[in-house]
Amino acid sequence: MNKFILSSFLLLSILLEIVSSDLSIVSTNNEFKPSTELRGIYSQPNNKDGGYHKAEIYFKTKVPSLNPDQSGVKNVDCNDGNKITLSLNDKNAIEQVKNNWPDKVMLLISHKWKCFGKPTTQFFMIKNKIVDVPNKKVTFTAEKCDVSDFSKEFLIDLSWVNGKKRSNARHRLNRRLSVSLPKIDVNNKISLNVLFNDATGQSSKPNFPFIDDPNLSLLCTNCFMKGDATISMKLGGKFTIGSGINLSDASVTLNGNAFMNLDLSFNGTIGDVRTFDVTLLTVPILGSFGVPGVFNIGPSINLIASTKISTKINSALNFGGEISLANFNANAQFVDITQPSFVQSGFTPVSKLHDPNFDLAAASVDIAGSIKPQLSFGLDVLNGKFKEQFGFQIVGTLDNNISIGNTICTGGNRPRLETNLTGNLDFFANNKVFPIVDFPSLNLLDRCL
Ligand SMILES: *[C@@H]1O[C@H](CO)[C@@H](O)[C@H](O)[C@H]1NC(C)=O
Ligand SMILES: *[C@@H]1O[C@H](CO)[C@@H](O)[C@H](O)[C@H]1NC(C)=O
Ligand SMILES: *[C@@H]1O[C@H](CO)[C@@H](O)[C@H](O)[C@H]1NC(C)=O
Ligand SMILES: *[C@@H]1O[C@H](CO)[C@@H](O)[C@H](O)[C@H]1NC(C)=O
Ligand SMILES: *[C@@H]1O[C@H](CO)[C@@H](O)[C@H](O)[C@H]1NC(C)=O
Repeated sequence: MNKFILSSFLLLSILLEIVSSDLSIVSTNNEFKPSTELRGIYSQPNNKDGGYHKAEIYFKTKVPSLNPDQSGVKNVDCNDGNKITLSLNDKNAIEQVKNNWPDKVMLLISHKWKCFGKPTTQFFMIKNKIVDVPNKKVTFTAEKCDVSDFSKEFLIDLSWVNGKKRSNARHRLNRRLSVSLPKIDVNNKISLNVLFNDATGQSSKPNFPFIDDPNLSLLCTNCFMKGDATISMKLGGKFTIGSGINLSDASVTLNGNAFMNLDLSFNGTIGDVRTFDVTLLTVPILGSFGVPGVFNIGPSINLIASTKISTKINSALNFGGEISLANFNANAQFVDITQPSFVQSGFTPVSKLHDPNFDLAAASVDIAGSIKPQLSFGLDVLNGKFKEQFGFQIVGTLDNNISIGNTICTGGNRPRLETNLTGNLDFFANNKVFPIVDFPSLNLLDRCL
C-alpha cells in the first residue's frame, strides 16, 4: 500500500499583555546581627484567603551577611553612587550595628528598594560604617558583589500555602442577608485555561481549522482546556569554583485540576493515512514569577490538537469528548536533568463521549483525535547561572474505529463504532521527552449504530 503521512503545522501565537507578578517581600524582625545564614522570604501579594505561593531563599555565606528586610529595616537608601543608608527602627538595632558589626558585611538588598535605580535583588559588600545614633541611621560605603563568590551553598524553596477554608459563618451570613456577597476574585494559582470562554463555557475560538484546503474541511469545533495548578519547586546546591553550580536538590511539583474538551469535525475525501497537527495556542501564563535577580520561572502553556485519519474515506463526521483530571499531582526530580525521576497520582481521567455524528460512504475508518496541553517552565537562577526549560505534557486521545460490514451489526448493514480513550503524562526537558505514566485505556463505546 502506498502510505504517507502528511503533517500540517499551523502555528498561532497570541501575545498577551505580560503581567508582572514578582513575589513581594515578607519582612521579619530578626536581630540586626550579621551571620553566615542569609535568608529572604517572599510571597504572592494577595495572600489572604485563597492560598498563595511562597518562596524562601537561603545562602550559606563565607562572610558575615544580612538581609535588612529580615531585620525590620525601615528604609534602605542608595545614594552618591556607592553609599547605602539603612534606617533602623529601634535603639537596640543601632547599638548593635555600632558596637558589634564586623568591618565587612555582605548585604542582600531586595528589588523593592530599587537600589541605585535597579528593581532587582542586589548584593553588596559594605564597609566604613558611619553611625548616626540620634536618627537611627547607618551609612556604609558599598561595592556590588556576586553572592556566589561569597557563599558555599544556596537553596530556593518555592511552595504553595493553602488558604483558609471559606468559613461557614460567611455562608450563614449570606443566607441571612439573602443577597450574595461578592466573590473574592483573587486566584494565586496558575491558570490552565486555554481557549476557554468563561461566559459561554465553550471554546473562545470555535471551528478552529487544522488545514487550509478547499477540498477538505477539518475543524476543532470546540477545543479548550480549563483548570488551575499550583507549583512547588526546590533547587539547591553548592557553588563550585568558577561560579558554577553543583545541584544537590532539584524538584518540581505540579498540583491541580484540568478539564479538556475536544470536538472535531471532518468533511471531505482522504486518499490515505494522514496526520494533522495544530497548535491552537501558545500563551505565556505569567510574565515573571519569581524574585528578580534570584530566580524566575516563566511558565507558558501550549495547547496542541492533532488527528489521524486512516484509510480512504469520503465522508462527513463529527466526534469528540471530554477528559477530566480532578486532582492530579506530578513530581519530577531532576538533579541530573538527563535522568529525571517521577512520582505522580491522580492521572486516572474521567471521560465522557459526545454523541458522534457521521455520514459515511460504505467504508471503514479509523480516526483518532488528540488534545495535548503542555505546561512549560523556563527557569533562570541567579541571572543565568542555572537555566533550564522543562515541563509537563498530558496527551488525551480518542481512538475511534468505525467499521462497516461487521457481521455483529445485523448482518453488516449497520456501522459499528468503537471508541477508546488513551493517554499519557510526560515530562520534557531540553527537547527530550520522558514518559511518566500511561493512563489506563478506557473503552467509552462499542456498539452498533
Ligand atoms: C481539489 O480537488 C480538485 C478536483 O479533484 C483538484 O483538481 C485540486 O487540485 C484539489 N485541490 C487541492 C488543494 O488539493
Ligand atoms: C558535585 O557534587 C557531587 C556530590 O557531592 C560530587 O560527587 C561531584 O564531584 C560534584 N561535581 C562537581 C563538578 O563539583
Ligand atoms: C460536506 O461537504 C459537501 C461539499 O462541500 C457538502 O455538500 C456537504 O453538505 C457537507 N456535509 C456536511 C455534513 O457538512
Ligand atoms: C480499544 O481497546 C481494545 C482493547 O485494548 C482494542 O482491542 C481495540 O482495538 C481498541 N479500539 C480502538 C478503536 O482503538
Ligand atoms: C477497525 O475495525 C475493523 C472491523 O472490526 C477492523 O477490521 C479494523 O482492523 C479495525 N481497525 C483498527 C485499527 O483496529
